[in-house]
Amino acid sequence: MKIGSVELPSPYAIAPMAGMTDTAFRRLVKRHGGCGLVVTEMVSSEGLVRGIDRTLEYAEYTDEERPISIQIFGGDPEKMAAAAQIVEGMGADIVDINMGCPVPKIAKHNAGCSLMREPAHAAQVVGAMAKAVKIPVTVKMRAGWNDDDRNAPTLAKMVQDAGAAAIAVHGRTAAQSYTGQADWDLVARIADQLTIPVFGSGDCIEPQQIVDRMRSGVGGVLVGRGVLRNPWILAQAADLAAGRPPKAVTPAERGQFLFDYIELLLRERVDEARAMTHDRWVINKLRALGSWYTKGLDNGSHLRTAINSADSLTVLCDAIGAFFLNPVQA
Ligand SMILES: Cc1cc2nc3c(=O)[nH]c(=O)nc-3n(C[C@H](O)[C@H](O)[C@H](O)COP(=O)(O)O)c2cc1C
Repeated sequence: MKIGSVELPSPYAIAPMAGMTDTAFRRLVKRHGGCGLVVTEMVSSEGLVRGIDRTLEYAEYTDEERPISIQIFGGDPEKMAAAAQIVEGMGADIVDINMGCPVPKIAKHNAGCSLMREPAHAAQVVGAMAKAVKIPVTVKMRAGWNDDDRNAPTLAKMVQDAGAAAIAVHGRTAAQSYTGQADWDLVARIADQLTIPVFGSGDCIEPQQIVDRMRSGVGGVLVGRGVLRNPWILAQAADLAAGRPPKAVTPAERGQFLFDYIELLLRERVDEARAMTHDRWVINKLRALGSWYTKGLDNGSHLRTAINSADSLTVLCDAIGAFFLNPVQA
């Protein structure tokens, strides 16, 4: 599996998720195996061009995450091309364009999914970026803006012609946000039409679903919320695809993942802690992950409540330890 000249060790990838897929999280998922590509949280092209510290932090990564794709958002072809050059200068393997974000704050700047409403302009953004950099330019889009305009098949062809090296399609419209089901038939149709690799995205919560989706003809699968619930899901999908039983994850390992995450976060983003204590920032990060990580666990709501009410790292770690390592007392 290749995107341009970038070889992916596996067709399964962590989908970009703002607020969630920071470098610490990506590294830990990658260490558990099965992950062929990681994508950063979306990064503002405007912020990159203006050199805003906070924006640059979102684009940080470590070598162990390679191959790494940095996702940028914006609607101005020249600024997006300049931002792509900055991303290339940062050493990223791939630069990805966000054409899927439905949030009004992003969409109103003619960025994110609203680019899908102006396909010719969207293709111009891709063309400007592809001309400006040597690394592959990829696009992540939705099925369309709304049900009356499910134009992903047309746009996919246009961005391929404009120089995109791969695309990913989340099979929902912006209007759907996260309701309903991702339309994998649409994703499969697009994969069939294009010559560049097409990744599908949406609703893979179990490892077997990832393996099944691969059979629809896509080049790869981007897994979002499924990884937040179960960081081993990509490794387990790789096991299933190879005919092995999926790795069994013990409660102690699930607890250790959170401890490892805390430890990595404590060493990161010290700058962001300016406005609050670093511990508070780490606790907030754990709350964000906890809301997904506890889904589907027996008594997961107890852990979620305990994480949300922890007011210090000691209390937080005690709650995690009690839940996973000493469940009788939890
Ligand atoms: C919390 C959250 C943040 C997200 N942020 C981004 C983002 O920054 N860029 C993007 O292209 N997609 C983003 N997405 C969409 C995911 O990449 C993915 O396409 C979508 O969640 C469907 O896949 P899933 O069902 O496996 O989660 C986000 C999704 C979630 C749940």
